[in-house]
Amino acid sequence: MTVVAIDGPGGSGKSTVAAALASRLGLEWLDTGAMYRAVALAALRRGIAPGDGEALAAVTRGLHMEMGPRVLLDGEDVTAAIRGHDVDAVVSSVASHRGVREELVGRQREWVAARGSAVVEGRDITSVVLPDADLKVYLTAEPAERALRRAGEHAGGVPAHAQVAATGEAIERRDRLDAGRTHSPLVVAEGAVVVDSTKRSVAEVVDEIVALL
Ligand code: DC
Repeated sequence: MTVVAIDGPGGSGKSTVAAALASRLGLEWLDTGAMYRAVALAALRRGIAPGDGEALAAVTRGLHMEMGPRVLLDGEDVTAAIRGHDVDAVVSSVASHRGVREELVGRQREWVAARGSAVVEGRDITSVVLPDADLKVYLTAEPAERALRRAGEHAGGVPAHAQVAATGEAIERRDRLDAGRTHSPLVVAEGAVVVDSTKRSVAEVVDEIVALL
């Protein structure tokens, strides 16, 4: 049984590294950010304000989510929809509410318990969700590189300079919200190993994490 927990800021390469690591180890992986994104999408569609914690928690408890290569929300494939700019704009706020977090953290622990072994990534996995994981990694990268990666994901290729600058500002704003919030802020948890992915290939980073195991 092997559980690897990975946290880090947006654009640090968490999802890419988690997927590659899981494939190397023959394990499933869980992108917990996608769960917060699915809640944000559901809230947008229902017209619920990102500041209304009680309404958001109630909606979260009623949602059916299937997490995997495709994300299903109440049976609908929302894999692409949860990556939209409208979701980007509200997800940090939606994720700041305790009731939303409690519900999703419970589901994340159940997901891992059902499998025994897994790679799980997010913002509070090493600190709150799975503090007893076999390996805890805080993955980071220089801000300029994180902006370039995120802008590339949105553009589906090489992004324009202005796009990179705008993405950098949006990432910084979300970092501040994720690290500054009251409930489960993004931190380097006790016992976590800091891995820097700046100017390194996915394979190199995965090699380093496998060596740590
Ligand atoms: O990793 P991402 O950009 O897809 O995450 C989307 C948002 O969800 C981000 O603003 C932080 C939040 N999040 C969180 O609060 N806790 C997690 N475990 C994962 C993501």
